[in-house]
Amino acid sequence: MRILVTGGAGYIGSHVIWQLLEHGHTPICFDNLTTGHADAVRCLLVEGDLCRREQILAAFAEHRPEAVIHFAARSLVSESVRDPRRYFRDNLLGALNLLDAMEAHGVRSIVFSSTAATYGVPSKVPIPEDHPQIPVNPYGDSKLCIERMLISYGRAYGLRSAILRYFNAAGAAPEQGLGERHHPETHLIPLLLEVASGARPRAQIFGRDYATADGTCIRDYIHVLDLGEAHLAALAHLAAGGESLALNLGTGTGYSVLEVLAAAREVTGAEIPAEDCPAREGDPPILVAAADRARARLGWTPTCSDLTSIIRSAWEFHRVRAERA
Ligand SMILES: NC(=O)c1ccc[n+]([C@@H]2O[C@H](COP(=O)([O-])OP(=O)(O)OC[C@H]3O[C@@H](n4cnc5c(N)ncnc54)[C@H](O)[C@@H]3O)[C@@H](O)[C@H]2O)c1
Repeated sequence: MRILVTGGAGYIGSHVIWQLLEHGHTPICFDNLTTGHADAVRCLLVEGDLCRREQILAAFAEHRPEAVIHFAARSLVSESVRDPRRYFRDNLLGALNLLDAMEAHGVRSIVFSSTAATYGVPSKVPIPEDHPQIPVNPYGDSKLCIERMLISYGRAYGLRSAILRYFNAAGAAPEQGLGERHHPETHLIPLLLEVASGARPRAQIFGRDYATADGTCIRDYIHVLDLGEAHLAALAHLAAGGESLALNLGTGTGYSVLEVLAAAREVTGAEIPAEDCPAREGDPPILVAAADRARARLGWTPTCSDLTSIIRSAWEFHRVRAERA
């Protein structure tokens, strides 16, 4: 299939493009390179901004995709709290323009990157897909709005969507030269690895008195390549005429910040000094997916998301880049 991948120059998108190629698909990356990297794109890169309607329409006219995977978004929670206008404008306008272009060109299938942030502070863990969605920041609000748009477009115009709510994406594909390169980096594992390699003096632990066994937050880490496999399965499901669905992508197992720190020390052999910092507003104590629906509906099972494999792959990517720099 010819698949338009918005945000394909970003962390998750660049891995998924490589996996699409491996499976014989023809991805076309549409990205404005605000947070993405052109050198991570292994297919045709169309530089363009989803907020510029004429640019996404032109990409559809020229490349005639049969399906879309929509990764492009602003996705920094704290920035969204400081500057909500940007988040609502870019994430929602981008999605509206994309859906218009799909409709104009008769493209009816979309896989959408949603997030555990749409659940807000969960009242039940592991979090099932039918848990109330009450985001606690504008980033989560913008993603939830897009989920609702997809459902309404489905009812009104026959659009079929796979809404994939990621928990914490992590890991890398070092053999392909792909990994996480966010600036600024806000994710725990790459931050710990920056400390391990000496690029940062110490790690920060935000909050030590959560109601968890060791007092630190617990998250569900999913390897980026396992995420990618779920996208391939979701595309196949839609291509076979399957109905729209909304699925969590996680493992169902959570690790605390201290457990991730211990695993990173073990993998890297580095001390990784860490300091305690105040808890951040709106950080739920535990985010762990109820992960069985994706298994049942897509036949998808994570195969490389054990914590050690995740950290080892990210460390390998990090070390190779540091050596080359
Ligand atoms: N990384 C995670 O743990 C995680 C968790 C949950 C959900 N998500 C979602 O997954 C998606 C991908 O996340 P990521 O970590 O790869 O982010 P990323 O920032 O690395 O990638 C986003 C890509 O979209 C591009 N982009 C942004 N706005 C654009 C626009 N208006 N037009 C064209 N391109 C644009 C950026 O240049 C970048 O290449 C995002 O939608 C994010 O909200 C990520």
